[in-house]
Amino acid sequence: MRGPSRAVALALAGVVLAAAVAAATPEELARGELLFHIGGCTNCHTAKDGPLLAGGDAIVTPFGTFYAPNITPDPETGIGRWTRDDFLRAMRFGKAPDGSPYYPAFPYTSYARMTDDDLLALEAYLRTLPPVRRENRPHELPFPYNIRFGLHLWQWLFHDPTPFRPDPARSPQWNRGAYLVEGPGHCGECHTPRTFFGNLDRARAYAGAQLGKETIPNITSDPVRGIGRWSRGDLSTFLLIGIKPDGDFVGGDMAKVVRNGTAKLPEADREAIVEYLSSLPPR
Ligand code: HEC
Ligand code: HEC
Repeated sequence: MRGPSRAVALALAGVVLAAAVAAATPEELARGELLFHIGGCTNCHTAKDGPLLAGGDAIVTPFGTFYAPNITPDPETGIGRWTRDDFLRAMRFGKAPDGSPYYPAFPYTSYARMTDDDLLALEAYLRTLPPVRRENRPHELPFPYNIRFGLHLWQWLFHDPTPFRPDPARSPQWNRGAYLVEGPGHCGECHTPRTFFGNLDRARAYAGAQLGKETIPNITSDPVRGIGRWSRGDLSTFLLIGIKPDGDFVGGDMAKVVRNGTAKLPEADREAIVEYLSSLPPR
C-alpha cells in the first residue's frame, strides 16, 4: 500500500486501537496487570537487561532451545496487529493466528485454565505497554522436534483448553488459590513431572521434577518429600520475600517467580495460594 491509502489505513487502525484501549476500564487494566505478574510473562519474554517483553533469552529444554518471541504491541515485530480473538486463541488453544500450533514451552497448557474475561483483561493490559521493534530469534530444535506440524497431534492428545471450574464443595479462598496456581501461576509446569511425551503427569501433580540441570522440589503436603512441615506463615513469607524456613533465600527460576509474581500479588491472593497448596495431597 502506498501514499494516501496507506495513511488512511494507518489512521483507521489508530482509531480502532484507541477504541480497544478506551474500552478497557481501570478495573480491567488492574486485573490484567495482576495476571501479567502472576503469569510470569516477563520471565521468558524479556531478555536479561533487554526491553520489556521484546523477546527472551534461550530457554533450554530436553527438546531443544526456545526463544520466547516479542509480545509488545509493535505492529511489525510484536503482536500489535493481533485481534483480541487471536490472543484468546493463542492463550487457550495454543494456536497462532495462521492456525499453526505452539510448542508447550509456552505454557498455554496452564493459561488455558484462565477465564476469557481474565485473558481479555491481560490482553488490554499488554496493549498499554510500550511497543518495541525487535525481530524474533528462531528456535534451535533438532529433528523431529523442529516439525511444528507434529504438535497438532500432541495438542489433540494432551491439550485441554477448558477453563478452570470452581469446586462448589470448597471455599472461595481455596478456589481462588487453585485458579491462580493451576492457571496464570502455571506452578505445575515446573513442579509437576512430565511423561516421555512432554505432557504433565497429573497423577504426580506437584511432586517435583527435573528440568534440564535444575531440580524442582516437591511442593505437596508430604512432610518429608514435600513442604508439609512448613507452617502457613512460612509459606506466605516465602511467596512474599523468597526466604525459606531454614533461612535460605530461594534461587534459580523460582527467584523470578517470587520477585516478578507472587510478591506483587495482594496479600489475599498469596493467602489463597497458601490455602490451595496446603491442601495438595502428599505425593
Ligand atoms: C516458560 C516461558 C514462557 C512464559 C512464562 C510465557 N511465555 Fe509466551 N511464549 C513462550 C515461547 C517459548 C513462545 C513461542 C512458542 C512457539 O514458537 O511455538 C511463546 C509465545 C507466546 C505468544 C505467541 C506470539 C507469537 O508471535 O506468535 C504469545 C501471545 C505469548 N507467548 C504470550 C504470553 C503471555 C501473555 C505470557 C504471560 C501470561 C507468556 N506468554 C508467558 C514462552 C513463555
Ligand atoms: C520456572 C519454573 C518454576 C515455576 C513456574 C514455579 N516454580 Fe517454584 N520452584 C522452582 C525451583 C527451581 C525451585 C527451587 C529453588 C531453590 O531451591 O532455590 C522452586 C521452589 C519452590 C518452593 C520451595 C520448595 C522447597 O522445598 O524449598 C515453593 C514453595 C514453590 N517453588 C512454590 C511455587 C509456586 C506456588 C509456584 C506458582 C506460583 C511456583 N513455585 C512456580 C521452579 C518453579
